[in-house]
Parts: sequence; structure tokens; C-alpha cells
Amino acid sequence: MATRNNLHTSSGLSTYIRGMLNSSNDKDKINDFLVPGSLLELGCGSGAYLKTIGPEILAQTTGVDMNAMLLLRAKEELEAHFGEEAAEVEFIRANAMDSNLSSVLRHRQFNNIVLCSFLHEMYSEFYHIGRQMNQDHDNDSYAKTRIQTLLDNIWDLLAPGGRLIIRDGCKPKSVTATIKFKNDVVRKAFAKFVDDYPWFINYIEINGVVELKLDDAFEFLTKYFYTENWDVEVQEKFGWCTPYEMDELLGKKSFNVISSMSYCIPWLKNKWAKDFEISTITDKTFAPDSTMLLAYEKR
Ligand SMILES: C[S@@+](CC[C@H](N)C(=O)[O-])C[C@H]1O[C@@H](n2cnc3c(N)ncnc32)[C@H](O)[C@@H]1O
Repeated sequence: MATRNNLHTSSGLSTYIRGMLNSSNDKDKINDFLVPGSLLELGCGSGAYLKTIGPEILAQTTGVDMNAMLLLRAKEELEAHFGEEAAEVEFIRANAMDSNLSSVLRHRQFNNIVLCSFLHEMYSEFYHIGRQMNQDHDNDSYAKTRIQTLLDNIWDLLAPGGRLIIRDGCKPKSVTATIKFKNDVVRKAFAKFVDDYPWFINYIEINGVVELKLDDAFEFLTKYFYTENWDVEVQEKFGWCTPYEMDELLGKKSFNVISSMSYCIPWLKNKWAKDFEISTITDKTFAPDSTMLLAYEKR
């Protein structure tokens, strides 16, 4: 299967890294749900989450990513943050889609596995693979089936009593939203988004207000400020799954739900308030939840 080794140009890569590091404060919330023992982060990127862990678990921490430049940056970020102790962190270049992932990880099981801003990239990748294979198929179902297989493989890497912690975009409710744009720049950004986004978006505009499905609005709202990495980011669906759907994707595995929360990251909420008036039929000053934080304990 074709894997994109490097989604970003070298200049785009630094913007991508900055974006990931900017949200380290929010990623820190993951640590509330860790159990003692080892930690594996799949898709660790430049270490924006790993920077937030306690120094006592550095020697039991593994970061996996398919992008070697990002792994190098993660190593540098951790060295700058923790000093010499950061050398104890293990970094592995691997493809999470690899069915031999367990053997790449030397058949270990981990007490904590973190998937932070990772699954939406995998979902989007699977969706586009499905689309290339057959335009007429239900590519959403195809992508979710592939995610299910991925989650099965990841679950096998988790030790009994261990926790799978997922922080990612949160799919909003299926309702209609309206957006009033506060300036021409964001109205133009909306037009560009609608034309470039691979999923087709219907909207109605009347009296300066655009009416559309909330999940389409959400994708615009979480992307319109990207400039340099537009071509990559516009190919991704951030809100592909709800907390309930994630439980379903995990299937009949035996687990306790430790966390099932969603919220809106404050900087996004503030940015939206400057650029838009967003509403739904029930809420005149609406801001969708941007992020879900889910923790599952393996029984
Ligand atoms: C949005 S970044 C998130 C990085 C980090 N978890 C964070 O929160 O800052 C997603 C990461 O997943 C990695 N990734 C995407 N597909 C992957 C795959 N198939 N195997 C391994 N890593 C992958 C990307 O290289 C990227 O570093």
C-alpha cells in the first residue's frame, strides 16, 4: 500500500510542527488518565504530547512515527525540555498501518497507549485510499473498517489493566448550522474551503448568512486559518467520529470507559468569536466542541 512518507514540504513541516506544539497545554490533559508503567505514543510527531509527560516515565516511553524528520524534532524537543534524561526515550520509525507492527515493537505490551491527533489522519488516509480504489463505494464505511482493524492491532499492544487514550477531533451532531461572516477575508476563505475540500458541501446563502450541515461547518472552522499547509490539511476530516462511535469501533473488546468527554479548545472558541457568528436552531451563540478525550481501560 502506498504510504506518504512525508506529507509536508520542509517549510510546511515547520508550520505543521508549530501547530502541533502550540496545543501542548491541551494535550497535557491526557496525563490525567495514565496508569503507572510504560507508555507508547503512536504518531508522536514532533513530541508535542510527549513533552508534557512526567520525567519519571521517560525511561519507559516509546514514540512511534513514520516521519523521520518529525521523530528527530521530537528527540530535540524532549532534550531541550528534560535535558539528558530525554535520551532514555525510545523512538521508532514505523508505519502504524503495518500488519507486523507488533513485531516492529518487539512483541511488547504497553501499560498506556496514546493516540493524539492521530486517528483523524489515519481515517482521512483510509478514506482517500478507498476513493482511489473505487469511486462508487461507501468510502466512509471502508475507512471505518480499516480503523477498526487498526484499533484491533493497537488493542493487542495494550497490557491487561492498561489504558488506550485517544485525543482527537470530535464529530458534531447532525444538525443545521448558520454562519455569519464578520469580514470578507473569512468569507473568501469559506469559498476556497468549499471548492478545495474533497467531501462535497451543499450550502444556502441568503441575507449574508450561510446555512449548511454543522459537520461541514466544523471542518471549515477547524481549517480556515491554515495557509502554508492548506493542500495537506484540506484533505483531512477532523470530525470523523463521536465518542459513542469510537466505543462502537472498539467493538466487543472488554473495557471500562474511564473518560468520554468533549470540549472546545479556548483559543479556537476565541478565534471563531472574532471571525463569525455561529448558530444552530437551539443555540444562537454556538461553538462546536473541537476535541474529544477518551480513555479506555483494558479489562
Ligand atoms: C497531527 S500529527 C500529531 C502528532 C502528535 N501526536 C501531537 O499530538 O502533536 C499526526 C502524526 O501522525 C503521523 N502519522 C500519520 N500516519 C502515520 C502512519 N501510518 N504511521 C505512523 N505515523 C503516522 C504523522 O507523521 C504525524 O506526525
